[in-house]
Amino acid sequence: MTGRKGIILAGGSGTRLYPITMGVSKQLLPLYDKPMIYYPLTTLMLARIRDIAIITTPHEQEQFIRTLGDGAQWGLNLEYIVQPSPDGLAQAYLLAERFLDGRSSAMTLGDNIFYGHGLPQLMARAEAPDAPAGTVFGYRVADPERYGVVDFAEDGTVRALVEKPEDPPSSYAVTGLYFLDGSAPLRARDVKPSARGELEITTLLESYLHDGALGVELMGRGFAWLDTGTHGSLLDAANFVRTLQTRQGMLAGSPDEVAFELGWIDREALAERAKLVEKSEYGRYLADIVRAGK
Ligand code: TTP
Repeated sequence: MTGRKGIILAGGSGTRLYPITMGVSKQLLPLYDKPMIYYPLTTLMLARIRDIAIITTPHEQEQFIRTLGDGAQWGLNLEYIVQPSPDGLAQAYLLAERFLDGRSSAMTLGDNIFYGHGLPQLMARAEAPDAPAGTVFGYRVADPERYGVVDFAEDGTVRALVEKPEDPPSSYAVTGLYFLDGSAPLRARDVKPSARGELEITTLLESYLHDGALGVELMGRGFAWLDTGTHGSLLDAANFVRTLQTRQGMLAGSPDEVAFELGWIDREALAERAKLVEKSEYGRYLADIVRAGK
């Protein structure tokens, strides 16, 4: 349906989760009953994206391959790209240039969890024929000074993006989900390292803004955007998923369920997956979905 390709940025050093992440990637830690990377993967799947590159550190790539494989179990085509050192989010577009091959992309951070009714529709807006070349997603937060914040013009368009402002121009943080057109790798080449030595995503987004080509979609009440970068936020996110799943009997962040819902895998393939994980609660959820059928 769409030629857009996906990128999950799952490298980084995870120093805020030390000592846990000294031996294992943050994005492979459990978020309640699934590895964290299942959630951003599901986000991209809900945007109807099937070609996805996973960017990892060199030493952790093998663990990701072991966890996710080639994606065929979900009707996906997964590729793996190494980021030699964590030199910033915008570097992803340089590393993925060959994979993207001129296509537009949706990139999400491996530790960002999005959940909410209407998420697929919201992402589809970035795909509409009249959509701008770049779209970011704004989320209202209580502590905008910790984030990149959207400064809105009177007409609701983006005037500027301000990194960790002392005096925030709005309460809308820019989330870790970016829909950019095929010019992103070219634009990323012009991004110079910041004072902290990183190729900043904000600088790349400013290149779109400068051309009047950056739009923002707002995630309203009822959406959850959870970040899992610290011990406390990781536990909170896990509890959120557990509460939702236990209460509703539905899964959050399951590539198995989404692949089945979208018709990318059939009931037999889902049953095979359910069998593989049958000893866990997650497996029992999948078995229920197989039984309910479609
Ligand atoms: P951060 O939370 O900024 O960094 P980090 O994961 O290394 O953690 P810490 O601050 O505790 O040291 O990264 C956000 C996400 O982006 C996370 O999923 C890791 C990923 N990332 C990369 O893959 N490559 C990078 O160069 C950077 C900066 C981040």
